[in-house]
Amino acid sequence: MEILKCDGVRKIYGSGETCVTALDRIDLSVEKGEFVAIVGASGSGKSTLLHIIGSVDQPTEGKVMVEGTDISRMNRTQAAIFRRRKVGLVYQFYNLIPTLTIRKNILMPLLLDKRKPNQEYFKQIVGTLGIADKLEFLPDQLSGGQQQRAAIARSLIYRPALLLADVN
Ligand SMILES: Nc1ncnc2c1ncn2[C@@H]1O[C@H](COP(=O)(O)OP(=O)(O)OP(=O)(O)O)[C@@H](O)[C@H]1O
Ligand SMILES: [Mg+2]
Repeated sequence: MEILKCDGVRKIYGSGETCVTALDRIDLSVEKGEFVAIVGASGSGKSTLLHIIGSVDQPTEGKVMVEGTDISRMNRTQAAIFRRRKVGLVYQFYNLIPTLTIRKNILMPLLLDKRKPNQEYFKQIVGTLGIADKLEFLPDQLSGGQQQRAAIARSLIYRPALLLADVN
């Protein structure tokens, strides 16, 4: 089953003399269960592509299908809900909310939907990621690696169909 399909995805930032073509007609197909690594030089468009697949940003042209749903045509609210429930995204710079504890950051996708976590699953992911003793701390009290693992835990909490990790 095809879980992700990109068709002619272009992204142009800005306009006129300073415009940047970050993505120039990307075609990509990923099957369920497949592990894909996208590598490229700094500035080659990796984060841009992941943000578009994760419906954080919209393409200038082209189409993105996730589990058969065309996410490039969604409005902002639809995109936010879809992303939260279906796509786990680990941002390059983590994007943890600085004023919330690690526990709340990890649970945020569920809290926004007023859903309760499965405690067993929660314990399993924070245990596996080695941050079980950091749950009541704020993000800036953690090391960089611990913050990254908290961001990974948050991306997994909804058991997403698609996991996008912008890691270096
Ligand atoms: N918001 C923006 N406005 C204008 N140009 C942007 C914006 N975001 C990214 N770019 C440009 O788009 C290109 C692709 O950037 P992107 O962040 O996708 O690269 P990357 O492959 O993730 O790089 P890195 O490995 O350094 O993280 C770069 O030339 C960058 O300067
Ligand atoms: Mg990047």
